[in-house]
Amino acid sequence: MFKRFHQLYPADSMASDQKIYRASTTAPVNIAVIKYWGKRDPTLNLPTNSSLSVTLSQSDLRTHTTASCSSTYRKETPEDSLLLNGKLEPLTTPRSIACLRSLRALRSELESTNPSLPKLSTYPLRLASSNNFPTAAGLASSAAGFAALVRAIADLYELPQSPTELSLIARQGSGSACRSLLGGYVAWDKGSRDDGTDSCARLVAPKSHWPEMRALILVASAEQKSVSSTAGMQTTVKTSGLFRQRVEAVPQRMLEMEKAIREKDFEAFAEITRKESNSFHATCLDTDPPIFYMNETSKMAIRAVEAINKEAGRTVATYTFDAGPNCVIYYLEKDWDFLAAKLDLALDGKEGWSKERTSDAGGLGVGNERVEEGLKN
Ligand code: DP6
Repeated sequence: MFKRFHQLYPADSMASDQKIYRASTTAPVNIAVIKYWGKRDPTLNLPTNSSLSVTLSQSDLRTHTTASCSSTYRKETPEDSLLLNGKLEPLTTPRSIACLRSLRALRSELESTNPSLPKLSTYPLRLASSNNFPTAAGLASSAAGFAALVRAIADLYELPQSPTELSLIARQGSGSACRSLLGGYVAWDKGSRDDGTDSCARLVAPKSHWPEMRALILVASAEQKSVSSTAGMQTTVKTSGLFRQRVEAVPQRMLEMEKAIREKDFEAFAEITRKESNSFHATCLDTDPPIFYMNETSKMAIRAVEAINKEAGRTVATYTFDAGPNCVIYYLEKDWDFLAAKLDLALDGKEGWSKERTSDAGGLGVGNERVEEGLKN
């Protein structure tokens, strides 16, 4: 699921230890239909339950990251650095350090078996990253961000590891990031080992398996969320009684969701998706103090989808919300005209809704979603 714009290359023909090495990549956003919420090990980012997501295309939602390293950087900024959306950010958080340490260790292994390789593992790293969507607004920016970081450095270091192996590293940056290393329908198996070596991403089905699937995003607010996922899920684990029930219910839901995807059963996919989203947000509400990720605009979108399905007498669309108010609607391509017309009718003219529809869904697939600046808070 990654577009590689550059392969590893030296920027000029200077002596080898003066070269600047660079690799760029883009990584997609994924939106969970079975949510990850709760850590059994916060340091290693090991989850209390398995989760499953659909990888969206990079046409509208993606992180672009360039990683470079050079011995010459030592003279200017000896530390690793990250330029995120044009702003210099520290690369000193434990999560970033964990990812960089693992990637450097793999490069160092390569260098020790092949001494002619330049010692990139010892050079300072410079990362430049940009999102084409609001950061930290509940649109899975950390998932795409850490997936892109890991992939870009892995390409820079020419690491032979598979996407699944790299997902173990991205998971340490942000749990949901491990699922963005793969395309299509992706599970993150919680694993059982204490060291987390079996807590990684797994391909459930490629995008081509169910090409009629579409995703539509209604942006209710592009503001940063008030409670981060990391902090929110920690409080939930400590305080919510519903959370314990949820942890027991999710394994069965995972099995049913995988079956629905395997059998391309949209009715079942839709039912599990909306119930799972509602169960997750109920658990947030059951947290003490309660966490409200959805707002009135979000509820308007839920009511609209429920009414559209009722009027059609079948399931045309389903909805899910991550840790934010923005609504992701899944539907099948054949239903676009009906859904779009009904959504216009249901939401146009309502408070908070502005009619700034941007593009047309025709011919798109999973991974070919649109961002609609339709709902405003
Ligand atoms: C609601 O992956 O952002 O989007 O591991 O602490 O970085 P950390 O959390 P994060 O949590 C995502 C939560 C979610 C559900 C999901 O994507 O599965």
